[in-house]
Amino acid sequence: MEIRFEERKQLKEKPDQKHLGFGKYMTDYMFIMDWDKDQGWHDARIVPQGPIELDPACVTLHYAQETFEGLKAYRTAEGKIQLFRPEMNARRMINSNARLCMPAFPEDMFVEAVRALVKQEADWVPSEPDTSLYIRPFMFATEAALGVHMASSYKFMIICCPVGAYYATGLDPVKILVEDELVRAVKGGTGFTKCGGNYAGSILGQVKAEKMGYAQVLWLDGEHRKYVEEVGTMNIMFKIAGEIYTAPIEGTVLPGVTRDSMIHLLRDWGYKVNETRLSVDDLMKAGHDGTLEEVFGTGTAAVISPVGELRYKDDVVVINDAKTGKLTQKLYDTLTGIQWGKIEDPYGWTQVVE
Ligand code: COI
Repeated sequence: MEIRFEERKQLKEKPDQKHLGFGKYMTDYMFIMDWDKDQGWHDARIVPQGPIELDPACVTLHYAQETFEGLKAYRTAEGKIQLFRPEMNARRMINSNARLCMPAFPEDMFVEAVRALVKQEADWVPSEPDTSLYIRPFMFATEAALGVHMASSYKFMIICCPVGAYYATGLDPVKILVEDELVRAVKGGTGFTKCGGNYAGSILGQVKAEKMGYAQVLWLDGEHRKYVEEVGTMNIMFKIAGEIYTAPIEGTVLPGVTRDSMIHLLRDWGYKVNETRLSVDDLMKAGHDGTLEEVFGTGTAAVISPVGELRYKDDVVVINDAKTGKLTQKLYDTLTGIQWGKIEDPYGWTQVVE
C-alpha cells in the first residue's frame, strides 16, 4: 500500500508521562483512507492530526454507521516498540463492519496502516511504567443523505494517544454495579461488534453507577436480565471454587483480544475455564458463601482490572477483602510482561515495529 505523507508545520508539545490519564492527548499525525463504490479503498495518507470536515447530513451523524477498535504499542526496556495481536483487531473490525453493512478493511492493510502510523509517532510511545500508546482505528460513513440506508462512502482513520491506566484508581480494585434495569445487548443485535452505538447506549448506566460511587456497570443479558455478560469497557471473569467463569461469545458479548489471551494463559496453567452463562444469583451466592475468590475485568484499555466489590440491587459482596487476588496479579504480570517485552512471548502474540 502506498501511503502519502503530509508534514505538520509545528509538532505538539508532549505531555508529562507521569500524568497521562486515558485518551486525553492526541499525537501529531493520523492515518486516513477513503472508500467509495467506484474506487474501493484509496488515498492512504498520514496527515497532521486535527479536525476533519463532514457534511452535516453525513450518515454517521444521524444513524451511527460507525465501528472502532483499540490496541496499544508498548515500549520495551531496550527501547523497541511492539504491538500485541493487531491482526485480532483487524479481524474483529471486519466482523463488526459486516454487521453494520460497512466495507471490510483488509487485515493486511489494517496491520500495515497501524505499523506505519506507530513508526511515524515513535517518539510518542511513552516509556514510564504502565504507559503505552493507545491506537484507535475507526471507520464511519461519510455520504451525505438522510434516508436510512447503507452509505456509499466511508473513511477509515487511525488516531493515537499516549496513555496511563484507564481507571483513575490505577490498578487498585474497582467497584462494579450490576445493572438490573437497562440492557446493553440482545441476540441478533450489535452486542458482539465494536460500534459507537453500543457505547452510546451504555452511558446512562455508567452515569447511574458513578452517582452511586461505582466505577462501571456489569451488564446482564438483555432477554432474561439474569446472566452476567460484560462490563462497560471490558470483559469480566470470575474465579469460583478454583474454576474460571466468563460469558460465552454468542452474539451479545464483545470478543475481547485480552479475554482470548487470558483464556489461553489460564488453560495453559491448568485452570478449567467455563465459557458459560452464569446467573447473577449464583454469582452473588458465591460471593456470600466464600467460593467467589477473585473477579477481574480484561480489556485493551483496562488491561487486567481487579474488581473489589459487586453490588446487585441492595446486595453487596466484597471480593478478596477488596484486594487484588493472586491469580489476577499473575495474569496481569504475565500479560504486561509479554506486552512490554519483559518476559518471553511463547505465543507469538507480539510483533516489533521498530
Ligand atoms: C479498549 O479496551 O480498547 C476499548 O475500546 C474500550 C474503550 C471503549 C475505552
